[in-house]
Amino acid sequence: MDSPSPDRLQPFRFADLRRGGDDATAELLAGLRAARAAIPPKYFYDELGSRLFAAICCLPEYPLTRSEARLFDGRGGEIADAAGRGRLLIDLGAGDCGKAERLFPLLAPAGYVALDISADFLREALGRLRQRFPELPLAGIALDFTRGLDLPEELLGPAEAPRLWFYPGSSIGNFAPEAARAFLARIARACCATAPGGALLIGVDLVKDKAALEAAYDDALGVTAAFNLNVLNHLNRLLPADFDVADWRHVAFFDPAASRIEMHLEARRAVAVKLAGQVRRFAAGERIHTEDSYKWTPEGFAALLAEAGLPKQRRWLDEEGGFALFLAGPR
Ligand code: AVI
Repeated sequence: MDSPSPDRLQPFRFADLRRGGDDATAELLAGLRAARAAIPPKYFYDELGSRLFAAICCLPEYPLTRSEARLFDGRGGEIADAAGRGRLLIDLGAGDCGKAERLFPLLAPAGYVALDISADFLREALGRLRQRFPELPLAGIALDFTRGLDLPEELLGPAEAPRLWFYPGSSIGNFAPEAARAFLARIARACCATAPGGALLIGVDLVKDKAALEAAYDDALGVTAAFNLNVLNHLNRLLPADFDVADWRHVAFFDPAASRIEMHLEARRAVAVKLAGQVRRFAAGERIHTEDSYKWTPEGFAALLAEAGLPKQRRWLDEEGGFALFLAGPR
């Protein structure tokens, strides 16, 4: 494709609203010093983590991204008819912005706002997008939107366009059900806050065979293991700490009772780790809980959306019944 001439290129608006520093340190130290140590999964996504996650999405064992893409390819026209065109598309957890970009021809958005916790990765992605869509108003906001959805209105143009909140990839699965309900309720309120017609387009991974689920989170190439272990390198820079990834191994399993995949890092031997100047000892076999990924039934997720204030729904399931897209709005 030819590059647009520089005078046609609109600068995209960008704000970094992450509360790093002391907040992140306190959160991480509290999690790591707890008897059952844990690291919130948002710390996976430093630059390498974001790239490793993009690689996970290409793995044969991880069908989620392909199932979602096939739904958009096969049913995209129908979905766009139901969602409406000319919306302000607000992408929650945009990553490389690739999923939203593929929808642009279908949705003909009035503007695009990309949110992500990984600021540099997002800035780069928007820079590339601007070359391909020089006339589309673009904005990027680096923030941890799991803490709140107060977005600066000056970045959310055009103001008169109804808002289509876009949360693909089953990231909602990384919230426990109660937290998911609270997060969806915030989106429901945001849908009502401005122009009428606001809605949420959300992807959700569904319960399926245990062996297939476990392979998706423990692939043969070890990409998910690298993604999990890389969080320790990220923490080494953030805190600082002195984790040695060679002391840890990746563990992932499906808990059918809770309907979730759990990921952990397990100490291969007894280790003493310096965390922001203080030592935390881990026994051999002790685990750090790094992620839950909940798997829903279509009915269970429909009920969750309704409880959150999004009862007006359409849903599309992939052929194998392993993944669903929901379009949901307030009454
Ligand atoms: C981002 N999220 C939906 C992914 C998931 O499937 O829970 C993160 C992931 N963790 C391991 N593999 C992928």
